[in-house]
Parts: sequence; C-alpha cells; structure tokens
Amino acid sequence: MGKPTIYLVAGARPNFMKIAPIVRALDAHGALAYKIIHTGQHYDRDMNEVFFEELGIPAPDLFMGAGGGSHAQQTARIMTAFEELCASQPPACVLVVGDVNSTLACSIVAKKACIPVAHVEAGLRSGDRRMPEEINRLVTDAISDWFFVTEPSGREHLLREGKPAADVHYVGHVMVDNLLYQAERLGQIETANFETAPFKACHGSYGVVTLHRPSNVDDAATFARIGAALEHLSQRLPLIFPVHPRTRANLERFGIDLGGRVSLVGPRAYMEFLNLWKDAAVVLTDSGGLQEETTALGVPCVTIRENTERPVTIDEGSNVLVGTDAERIVAEAVNACEGRGKRGRKPDLWDGRAAERIVAILAGLLQG
Ligand code: UD1
Repeated sequence: MGKPTIYLVAGARPNFMKIAPIVRALDAHGALAYKIIHTGQHYDRDMNEVFFEELGIPAPDLFMGAGGGSHAQQTARIMTAFEELCASQPPACVLVVGDVNSTLACSIVAKKACIPVAHVEAGLRSGDRRMPEEINRLVTDAISDWFFVTEPSGREHLLREGKPAADVHYVGHVMVDNLLYQAERLGQIETANFETAPFKACHGSYGVVTLHRPSNVDDAATFARIGAALEHLSQRLPLIFPVHPRTRANLERFGIDLGGRVSLVGPRAYMEFLNLWKDAAVVLTDSGGLQEETTALGVPCVTIRENTERPVTIDEGSNVLVGTDAERIVAEAVNACEGRGKRGRKPDLWDGRAAERIVAILAGLLQG
C-alpha cells in the first residue's frame, strides 16, 4: 500500500503562508503523501502566484479557478469542483487552514464523502456573527475531526463546544513558522530592489496600513471615518498602505482622499511586505494574520476592529484593539510612534515548529 495522501487546501492569500511550512514538514517527515489543491478564490497574480513562488510552495496539483462572485457563488463553485475530485481520487484526509470560504467549502464536501478533516487554526472565535469568517470557523469546527490550535482561547472554545480533548492539539502557529523562516531568508537577500525600498529609505519612522474587512471598507461612512484618521495621523507619521483589490475599488467608489502623506501601493509580495512592517513604528490593520505576526516580532499593532478572534495578541502580544473611532486610532498610533507602543511577548509554542508537530500527529493518526 502507498503512503496515505493528504489534500492540502489553499484558496486565499492568508492560506498560502500557512500551507508552506506544512509542505516543508511533510517533505521532511516522509511518511505521508500530499497534494496541493488551489481553489482559485484569489486569482490575481499579486494576490496568489507571487506567494507560491516566494514562499517555496510547489505548484498546485489542481487549480480549480473558482474565485470571484458572491460568497454563495464562490462557495458553490469550490464545493462542486472539490466534490468531483474527492469522488474520483479520495484522499486519506483533507487538511484545511484558517477561516476563508475555501476552508468552509472543502470541509463540508470532505465530511459528506466521509473523509476525515483536519482544521489548522481551529477554535478561534470573534463572537461576531456578522463577520463571514466567524461563520466559516463555526461550521468548519462543527464538522472537523482533528483540531490544531494556535492559542489558549482556541482550545477553550472547542472544549466548551463539546469536542473531545484528545482531538484538540495545541501546536503553536504555522503562520509564525512561515514568518520566522522568511525573516531569516530576508536577512540574506537584496532588498534595495523592492518597489517600496525608496519609501523605507527616506522615512526613518513610518507606519504601515492594511484594511480589507467588509465591515471597514464596504460602508462609506465607516471607511471615510477611518480614512480621516489615517490622513490626520499621516501629518505626524508618514504611512504606507498596500491596498487590497476590494479596498481599492471602494476608495474610488466613495471618493476617499487620504492626502499626500499616505503612500498607496498595490498588494505586496510576502518578503517585500515583511521588509516594510518589521521596521515600522506601528502597524494599523484589520487583518487577522498581521495581528499575530506583529505579536511574533514584537511590533506595535493597532487593530481597527471592535473585536478579535485572536485575544492572545492582546493578552500577551503587541496588539491594541481600537475599533473605528478616529481619535482612538490616532492616539494609539501616536503612542506607538513616540516609543510607548506595546511590545508584549511571544505566546507559548510560537517557535517555528508548529507544522512539525501537526505532521507528527497526523502521521500517527493516519498510519495507525
Ligand atoms: C478573503 C477572506 C478573508 C481574508 C482575505 C485576505 C473569506 C470570506 N474572506 O477576503 O478572510 O482575510 O481573503 O485577502 O474567504 N479580488 C480580486 N482579485 C483577487 C481576489 C479578490 O480582484 O485575486 C476582489 C474581487 O472583487 C473579489 C473581492 O476582491 O470579489 C473579494 O475577494 P474574496 O476572495 O471574496 O474575499 P476577500 O475580501 O479577499
């Protein structure tokens, strides 16, 4: 008999960073085979291919091209394509990461085909059911078999929801595995050619902004309020803002002008973005992953959201939640740029070895 095969599902930008260390750990371990399934949820080159190239992920074994459209259209297209694959070539296990629509779609299909599902980054809860990712997390965790958890709150939620303790594994964070690996590589490559290198070179102190959550950028009044805060802050601290396609469209639609001290650039590849934010005075964001990455490197982070599903970044890390109130956004960011920002400490097991732990556990489960 051949090695048990795992399908690794990736679809959207934040998935790629989580898959990369799992691929490396599977290669090093050797007892399990794998196939990379790219749903195509993100399809622009700068949202997807550049990550595959740079993060050292092998080309996908299957690219479904199921991106774009509404949530239901996207989810349905991914489910249909993945169902055909699971019927014709059923794997021993489907591994999904995070909380995007691809995570939801593929876990539902796998379970209906009676294939075990492993969920990496399980148990996170924002408590906010207006957030599409919260629905994806709840549904995925309701049907998954094995749960790999990044922080104490994840374990608590899953146990409270009735999951057997034996199926819940606190392993650390694959996103941090990837970050530490890439940060070391960054030290060895030439960064002067990055498009954002001149910005970094000409500003000793600067802030980095990312925004893409529908709750922040799809509502004109909210986005205008956040935009005004950024414009105000930029008088004090120059800002650079790599803009997600959804955000770009809404900036134009709502006619929001951030002024001359906010540099708008396109989405950056991983290394170039890391090179920017690791030396920033402060990061202002609504991203989930960046709240964690800034905590891992001790960079002050101001999160423009009312809640977070990643409370360890506040309890232990460098993150502060400020909501969308303009005064609070500016006050916390100024705090950070005056050197009073939160530095925090790295949570337990955020040591770069989470993927190894996951693979060792899966090998035990699938070979046993
Ligand atoms: C998705 C995830 C979100 C994650 C984010 C990171 C869900 C529910 N959301 O949100 O959790 O933080 O990815 O980026 O899965 N678009 C392009 N080119 C692309 C991808 C998207 O132009 O390559 C545009 C399209 O107009 C698309 C819109 O962005 O309709 C939204 O993309 P979608 O994948 O639906 O969600 P994200 O906002 O990217």
